[in-house]
Amino acid sequence: MLDALRPSLERLVPYETHDPMGADKLDANEFPYDLPAWFKEKLDILSQQEIQANRYPDAGYLKLKQSIATYAQVEANQVSIGNGSDELIRSLIIATCLENRGAVLVADPTFSVYRLVAQTLGVSCFDIGRDDDFHLRLDCLDPLLQAYPIRVVFLPTPNSPTGTALTAQELEKLLRIGPETLVVLDEAYFEFGDMNLVSRLANHPNLVVMRTFSKAFRLAAYRVGYLLADPLLIQALEKVRLPYNLPAISELAALVALDNRTELLAALEEIKAERTRIFQHLRQLSGVNVWPSAANFHYFRCLDHDAQRIYEDLRKQGTLIRATGGGLRATVGTPAENDRFLSRLQQALHLP
Ligand SMILES: Cc1ncc(COP(=O)(O)O)c(C=O)c1O
Repeated sequence: MLDALRPSLERLVPYETHDPMGADKLDANEFPYDLPAWFKEKLDILSQQEIQANRYPDAGYLKLKQSIATYAQVEANQVSIGNGSDELIRSLIIATCLENRGAVLVADPTFSVYRLVAQTLGVSCFDIGRDDDFHLRLDCLDPLLQAYPIRVVFLPTPNSPTGTALTAQELEKLLRIGPETLVVLDEAYFEFGDMNLVSRLANHPNLVVMRTFSKAFRLAAYRVGYLLADPLLIQALEKVRLPYNLPAISELAALVALDNRTELLAALEEIKAERTRIFQHLRQLSGVNVWPSAANFHYFRCLDHDAQRIYEDLRKQGTLIRATGGGLRATVGTPAENDRFLSRLQQALHLP
């Protein structure tokens, strides 16, 4: 390794993505349909009219903040914009944990980027753990908060990879965490469910609701994430944000998506109906344990089969899913992709 590099980098591995090589891509919880042609045409015309390529974008992203504020029913000074929510995760850890101030808390199995980003910044990451149904081990929370200087807790609701939404009891316990710790509720998939925690921001200045345009809004390629929080926290995050962190075309795409949200989000109904259909199918397969999901994917474990083997078998048959946390996560795709996934899974499990 180069002498200039931090020795600790030797232990890290880059975030893993797989080339689908023509397979059905059910491994990244993306929306299965591209943006409609009318949307792309609109974006094309607007970008020619409004984007001057030689100029930096509006560094404050005021237009987008205002539009998000209207959508989320908050004020514009409660909104921070990121190059994907991944960038916001990094900003939150930079703002809270660096200079040996503290550590991060997660609940595995969960979204791997929280731990990955903490590691790249030399910040410790602790795990509260989940029970057999993936609910939080709440009895471990206070001991962990007392033992370690936890400055930020990251909890997706619904959780990835398990699809589990936070229960009322879990939420109330989290909202009692003191002001020295940020509680980040990652609502990347909230449009697929019926939980929205924005109303809780008013009484909890250490609460953060984080979201993305990568899932229900189909803008994964444009990398737009946002978070909603107390204006004082937003001001602090502005200090650690890189200037011009969002390309002008991404800001414009998010604005057009919000302006046309009724049409775009209407397609969620098909995803939810397919989610129910897949769940009912998986539940009937012998030796398969599947958990209810409030997101656009399912998590399941196959009792007598190694998850990695099933993953490989499906990949060879032409369906890419994800092996994680000892189980498998499969995104809800188009009806045809879902049919192929279910029949290929049956084949991999040697079921009739
Ligand atoms: C829970 C969760 N949060 C955040 C993200 C990333 O969102 P973005 O594309 O905005 O970086 C994902 C992506 O899969 C996710 O599962």
